[in-house]
Amino acid sequence: SKGAAMVTAVAYRLADQTRQIAQTLDEFRLSKAQLLEVKKRMRVEIENGLKKKTHDTATVKMLPTFVRSTPDGTENGDFLALDLGGTNFRVLLVRIRSGKRRSVEMHNKIYAIPIEVMQGTGEELFDHIVYCISDFLDYMGMKNARLPLGFTFSFPCKQTSLDAGILVNWTKGFKATDCEGEDVVDLLREGIKRKEEFDLDVVAVVNDTVGTMMTCAYEEATCEVGLIAGTGSNACYMEEMRNIEMVEGDKGRMCVNMEWGAFGDNGCLDDIRTKYDRAVDENSLNEGKQRYEKMCSGMYLGEIVRNILIDLTKRGFLFRGQISETLKTRGIFETKFLSQIESDRLALLQVRAILQQLGLDSTCDDSIIVKEVCGTVSRRAAQICGAGMAAVVDKIRENRGLDHLEITVGVDGTLYKLHPHFSRIMHQTVKELAPKCDVNFLLSEDGSGKGAALITAVGVRQRELELQ
Ligand code: GLC
Repeated sequence: SKGAAMVTAVAYRLADQTRQIAQTLDEFRLSKAQLLEVKKRMRVEIENGLKKKTHDTATVKMLPTFVRSTPDGTENGDFLALDLGGTNFRVLLVRIRSGKRRSVEMHNKIYAIPIEVMQGTGEELFDHIVYCISDFLDYMGMKNARLPLGFTFSFPCKQTSLDAGILVNWTKGFKATDCEGEDVVDLLREGIKRKEEFDLDVVAVVNDTVGTMMTCAYEEATCEVGLIAGTGSNACYMEEMRNIEMVEGDKGRMCVNMEWGAFGDNGCLDDIRTKYDRAVDENSLNEGKQRYEKMCSGMYLGEIVRNILIDLTKRGFLFRGQISETLKTRGIFETKFLSQIESDRLALLQVRAILQQLGLDSTCDDSIIVKEVCGTVSRRAAQICGAGMAAVVDKIRENRGLDHLEITVGVDGTLYKLHPHFSRIMHQTVKELAPKCDVNFLLSEDGSGKGAALITAVGVRQRELELQ
């Protein structure tokens, strides 16, 4: 009969739709062999970054940080810290006390950086930063103390000492002019001079990964790796001096800021990148750059999801085929929304409520699909991040000529902290891909602030020793 034929047609269409959606998402599912391949390629890029011959053309830059040891508990004093480049810009006062009753006390204030300032001129950006410091010093009643300052600046910097860092290029959402190729410590000092209100002693420029490692190492001496899985993605670790060809000397170790977000910029990940990854890249502020970061960090995961949803909608599988203005809006799926959508405790009705909040009218079927898309994209992110980390810990193990390595990784970042599955999948991947390493992940509370202060303390001490 006609009715039966219609039912069959509908059933057929649904089955076909389910198959096509599954096919789309399959591209994001990586086998163990593929993940091992990612690990292997990361190792190749690590070597390229470390070696003098290949350093200049290397994508993973392996930047020396001039941090030569982790804290030993004797750090002491009051420090200012700036934290630029994460979800928030903050100014902090950190009081570190050594001795029997070691303690770290922190006061901080969050300041907004308007998008016009992030993407305006360098002078405007640094004037704004100095304005915020000034406000903070007033607030703390400390305008007249010439405090040592640690500047957590979470972008790739070529360092020649602890207190000099030339910005290689902006990443994430920043694009202020006249900063690339400049020493950001100079830019900060000049900003402070222009204001003529207070004086500070800028002692260290610090990457957030390094701050995170140092904060964890203060509590746990086996911590020699730092990882950020947040707005951006990056890692650092203690490398043998003899392997860091860009720095004189062969003794001991130095922390290297890997800048692994740029992994893949030479095309070495093209076989696992999807057309959605390419779309996200093409619509970004830095096309062709930070390709790995664009597959595994908070700033871009939501964008991958959004691009898939647009495609599925165009093909008539979602939102009744209607692409709303909301869906066209860049950046709507922030980490916090993805995290909520993927929470297991949430009923589908609540997923629909979140989509509604974002301005997306969904059916129950839509919400199932959206949740699956989010889950697939974040799983791949956690897995490739884990593959990168597996390469790092295995490198450290080999450096030390060990069959088995026990090591602690200090971690921070919104994706790691907020997402319901990211950390678990990442841990599991490291375990599978680096079976000879026993990796203990330690959440680093406020690494950017505390870590910068610890590094500043070590820097002040080093300087005093040199003056003697
Ligand atoms: C970006 C920056 C890097 C930083 C990371 C995490 O990848 O280039 O310096 O560590 O984001 O914030």
